[in-house]
Amino acid sequence: MSSVAIVGATGAVGREIMKILETRKFPLTNLKLLASRNSAGKEIRFKNQNVPVEEIGETSFKGVDIALFSASGDISKKYAPIAVSSGATVIDNSSAFRMNPDVPLVVPEINGEDIKFNNGIIANPNCSTIIMNLTIAPLYNKYGVERVVVSTYQAASGAGAAAMNELEQQCRDWCLGVPIIQEIFKRQYVWNLFSHNSPIDIDSGYNEEELKMVNETKKIFGDPDIGVAVTCIRVPVLRAHCESINVTLRQSYESIDEIRNLISDFPGLTVKDDREANEHPEPLMASGQDDCYVGRIRADVSQPEKGIEMFVAGDQIRKGAALNAVQIAELILVY
Ligand code: A2P
Repeated sequence: MSSVAIVGATGAVGREIMKILETRKFPLTNLKLLASRNSAGKEIRFKNQNVPVEEIGETSFKGVDIALFSASGDISKKYAPIAVSSGATVIDNSSAFRMNPDVPLVVPEINGEDIKFNNGIIANPNCSTIIMNLTIAPLYNKYGVERVVVSTYQAASGAGAAAMNELEQQCRDWCLGVPIIQEIFKRQYVWNLFSHNSPIDIDSGYNEEELKMVNETKKIFGDPDIGVAVTCIRVPVLRAHCESINVTLRQSYESIDEIRNLISDFPGLTVKDDREANEHPEPLMASGQDDCYVGRIRADVSQPEKGIEMFVAGDQIRKGAALNAVQIAELILVY
């Protein structure tokens, strides 16, 4: 049994963490909800009770065993060390500590055992990284992965509750024919798509989201030789990211049926690959689901012996963030 705190409890991921703690019957002695001063005094329903939201502060973590952070990198940098020195284990959704060598970066289905080597902080990977890594993991385990070429189709949810609200608001305003609000992404989002909003490195041309996918994948698999070439795009979908993934394996595979079976047998993945009915993964199919949906599984026509093409849809708020974090919390109780 654990005393748990959620930092960023009023946000899209924080609220989903609460739902998942409840549905997975996480063994809780106490739940503390933390957010900014603006939210202090609000109440959020949890297990048929109203739990008050408190403003985060230096004494917030007294008596807390596990602190799930999902506010911002700056909040994590400031308060995660305070939580650790109060005796809590931190599971951090931000990118603040992910590439720190002392901090395990964990997708439980791939490298859950890495949590044993934590020094108080365990990092949750980037949402697009989790979805891509889970999809290639069954192939990696059997054949090794030499290179992945991936394009993302990322939902508003990745930029938080305010971005989801703005997409909905733009939709309503567009229908009414009134000027649309463009505060979050500074552009029309509805009926549009655009290069991911994270800062772009002028020399390399890669944005931060893309570099996270490149670097985090190597750390999660413990394999610096995996090549990752990636383009991240924001699409006008509310939640659930999609990714087009092309994998070059290190060895020739047996057959596409075998690849399909490897994916289908892997925890956290569901195959949705009906060529006759043209039914394949879609964001609405994956929204609210724990599993990531994988389809369009086919031999890469340009390198049929070692190349596989796939398309995946995964709920960014759930497996891409909240569910993965709660799974890590469950592992803490085991190890
Ligand atoms: P608040 O609602 O009080 O602003 P999202 O990613 O969906 O936008 O959510 C961000 C989360 O991080 C919210 O819960 C938000 O709380 C919280 N947050 C933002 N700024 C701070 C801060 N300065 N201190 C504590 N929590 C913060």
